[in-house]
Amino acid sequence: MAQPRPLLIAPSVLASDFGKLGAEIAAVDRAGADWIHLDVMDGHFVPNLTFGPPIIKAVRGTTNKFFDAHLMVSNPDALLGEYAAAGAEMITVHIEACTHLHRTLAAIRELGCKAGVSLNPATPIHGLEYVLDQLDMVLVMSVNPGFGGQKYIPEAAQKVAAIRHMLGERDVHIQVDGGVTPETAPLVYHAGADVLVAGSAVFKGGEESAYKANIEAIRQACA
Ligand code: DX5
Ligand code: ZN
Repeated sequence: MAQPRPLLIAPSVLASDFGKLGAEIAAVDRAGADWIHLDVMDGHFVPNLTFGPPIIKAVRGTTNKFFDAHLMVSNPDALLGEYAAAGAEMITVHIEACTHLHRTLAAIRELGCKAGVSLNPATPIHGLEYVLDQLDMVLVMSVNPGFGGQKYIPEAAQKVAAIRHMLGERDVHIQVDGGVTPETAPLVYHAGADVLVAGSAVFKGGEESAYKANIEAIRQACA
């Protein structure tokens, strides 16, 4: 059995107070976040709308933490350069939205960013097979994307394990996003995920001391 990878916690700002987004990001940074997860939604790939490159750029100065942009958009190729220029360090696209996935991943890396691919809950993993060396991260959705606060879909854990097996020795992150709590986090961490996104479970309580306790609870559950 391989050594477990260090756990990284990426709070999703979708559950934060958008009226003070910069301050919320600074607060989760101080509270122990490893990465900042930025949920970009276009009202087309998913029903909801959030923000794009200008907002990412506006909050970039509030933290030095790694900016992890999750693009839930139908045409990610259109603005890749803008996300990179705004300060995104990981750019994750949805496999369901990419006709030329290999090209899109190469374009992300050419911009100097890490390249991620996300799979919706119903999407099989075989589409990853021929891009394994073009990837820095696979994002396994454990809810149907579009909204925070949904219930974890348990099949995510076996999907994580199958992807970890498929990746072999490659140094690739597996991220899980959706319904991650202290109860569900260990299921996916022990299956081989190393980056856990949590929105509601981190931002509940609405203040920095609560964020700190919430992040710590997820870490403890996985220890
Ligand atoms: C869902 C987003 C998630 C969301 C997770 O479409 O991709 O990042 O914010 O929220 P929770 O942790 O509340 O399920
Ligand atoms: Zn997300």
